[in-house]
Amino acid sequence: MRHIRLGVNIDHVATVRNARGGSYPDPVRAAEIAIAAGADGITAHLREDRRHIRDADMAELKARLTKPLNFEMAATDEMLAIALAIKPHAVCLVPEKRTEVTTEGGLDVIGGQAHLKPYIAKLRDAGIRVSLFIDPDVKQLDMAKALGAPVVELHTGSYAHHTGDSHELKRLVSAAVHTGRLGLECHAGHGLTTDNVGPIAAIKDIVELNIGHFLIGEAIMVGLPQAIRDMRAAIDRAAN
Ligand code: PXP
Repeated sequence: MRHIRLGVNIDHVATVRNARGGSYPDPVRAAEIAIAAGADGITAHLREDRRHIRDADMAELKARLTKPLNFEMAATDEMLAIALAIKPHAVCLVPEKRTEVTTEGGLDVIGGQAHLKPYIAKLRDAGIRVSLFIDPDVKQLDMAKALGAPVVELHTGSYAHHTGDSHELKRLVSAAVHTGRLGLECHAGHGLTTDNVGPIAAIKDIVELNIGHFLIGEAIMVGLPQAIRDMRAAIDRAAN
């Protein structure tokens, strides 16, 4: 049976916590519950404005989790220093704009190659697995390879917003196939739900999916363990 790793993004547990400025719900406890329910790893995005996850959350996640931590961050010196101190299993470099509601597009790896290259090298030298969050674009993938990133995460946001649009799905399929040719490990995520994850999980080259907002929203309705089990089942049905 093909097992696609499910990375659960717990950012929005922190969003709810921060709405009242207290200490609950605790994103680290949510991460532990997610792992007990079948998550293969935990993803968290320390944004420059700390709107959800905070520095102390990242440190606690690294200290307490029994599964890999995927630290999403912008390529800035401040974030690099934090990542090198925390030493997560993986870092996913993402573009970040203060005014955006969420990560709206992939990194421009081609335009930003000179900026990104030293970040990728320093993280790799520290033994951290580096992935680049990019749109499903073959030229961007070629540059990710040239810059020495071993992993790419394909941005599924356009697909998710236009589910049923076969053009967006075809772009993702072609990009995923191209990662295989380049010898890059292929992840995907953004905007995925139990309703739209199937065609993505069916793409053979994809080995990991990172899913957050939908799962945390569902957790309000059915509980986090059930939300994760439902997602796991939807992924497994499509992958096999
Ligand atoms: N992957 C990356 C790189 C992201 O930035 C995000 C959003 O933080 C996700 C996956 C998860 O997206 P969503 O919360 O829409 O499931």
